[in-house]
Amino acid sequence: SMHDLPQNLLGPIKEFEEQFTVDRAKLKQIVNHFVKELEKGLTVEGGNIPMNVTWVMGFPDGEEQGTFLALDMGGTNLRVCEITLTNQKGAFDITQSKYKMPEELKTGTAEELWEYIADCLQQFIEFHHENENLTKLPLGFTFSYPATQEHIDHGILQRWTKGFDIEGVEGEDVVPPLETILKKRGLPIKVAALINDTTGTLIASSYTDPHVKIGCIFGTGVNAAYMENVGSVPKIAHLGLPADTPIAINCEYGAFDNERVVLPLTKYDAIIDRDSPRPGQQAFEKMTAGLYLGEIFRLALVDVIDNRPGLIFNGQDVSKLRKPYLLDASFLAAIEQDPYENLSETLELFERELNIRPTQPELEMIRRLAELIGTRAARLSACGVAAICTKKKIESCHVGADGSVFTKYPHFKARGAQALREILDWAPTEKDKVSILAAEDGSGVGAALIAALTLKRVKAGN
Ligand code: BG6
Ligand code: GLC
Repeated sequence: SMHDLPQNLLGPIKEFEEQFTVDRAKLKQIVNHFVKELEKGLTVEGGNIPMNVTWVMGFPDGEEQGTFLALDMGGTNLRVCEITLTNQKGAFDITQSKYKMPEELKTGTAEELWEYIADCLQQFIEFHHENENLTKLPLGFTFSYPATQEHIDHGILQRWTKGFDIEGVEGEDVVPPLETILKKRGLPIKVAALINDTTGTLIASSYTDPHVKIGCIFGTGVNAAYMENVGSVPKIAHLGLPADTPIAINCEYGAFDNERVVLPLTKYDAIIDRDSPRPGQQAFEKMTAGLYLGEIFRLALVDVIDNRPGLIFNGQDVSKLRKPYLLDASFLAAIEQDPYENLSETLELFERELNIRPTQPELEMIRRLAELIGTRAARLSACGVAAICTKKKIESCHVGADGSVFTKYPHFKARGAQALREILDWAPTEKDKVSILAAEDGSGVGAALIAALTLKRVKAGN
């Protein structure tokens, strides 16, 4: 850090450093375990990481064409896109509208969820296709939660993640309720493919960059998808498909180490897990994803307030800071972005959002804490990518990435790249062999491409 650390706060700062620092040896230990868990997930025995079979069988070849709708239900936004693929490799037209996912919806009823999604689709169609006589539009539905799929156009929700908690959806196929409501509204839409955002990102990125082997999301949640060979997926061996058939795997590695044998958990991580709608689940995600970064930070500050009375924010009203999930990752990002020596923007942020006026030493501690939490997230995030590369024996490749943490959180990319370097033992003179790059157009294009690939396969009769 460019700042000198304040003497009177060295106690808590040192403790934070001890808790949040993940050194090279630990990273390697995590990756070793991660590789085993990826492999386990591909077998019938299972394991912590679901390794969901997506039925996306191969990369697009650039010949895909047609017009598709894409519905992208991510962590923070709901996007509706219309994409026209022009059969010139990498070229497409896209029209899109973005809608905020209302917070209440995440813990509301299933009916409210489907109604809201139908509202967005209807608005989009009415706006872009006024007075048109539409023929049936195929939809690629990016549903970014773990789903069991036996075919590409359906999916049974395994469990909600990312703070969602809507009753009556887990264990059910999510396609029929969506199609029912679309039909009721007379919308000529047919779900052609249900996909994950990581799979969409993988396919969309590889469409424009053939070096892409992995699709990653670093956002509200964390996860990755990559292409496997059927022969390396023992849990589908009974289907008798040719061993060299490619098939995309949605890892759902936010669930890595739910057993908690290797992750360097802090007491704050334990509280987050305990108070979440699904305790025990998504252990890796809860340490790395955007949804939790601000909350980890808040819990750490509250810990100092409660356990070292009078040490920080002395005499100030800290009641606002006691509200769970008050701070999101953008709050932490703003602290890390504060360019000024005196951290005046952080001071303003605390005054505005929390009614707290930190002293200069407190500001230094706050900055250091944000750095530690952001750095831990980036370094742990790199473990997932390193594990896939190790498992697949990929020496060098591109990784297509998306999500608010990847695109917006300061230093995330550089910290992740540094961690990869440490884990994968590149010589100091070597350039990055695995580079994590921004995916061009989110998973909307991926959804359209997958819908196109699917229809092509259906036509070809396989
Ligand atoms: C978007 C992708 O850009 O990023 C979505 O199109 C994805 O498919 C999302 O779910 C993830 O980011 P966040 O930060 O919204 O969770
Ligand atoms: C959560 C979801 C997963 C998704 C990821 C990123 O981990 O379970 O499906 O890919 O978040 O959005």
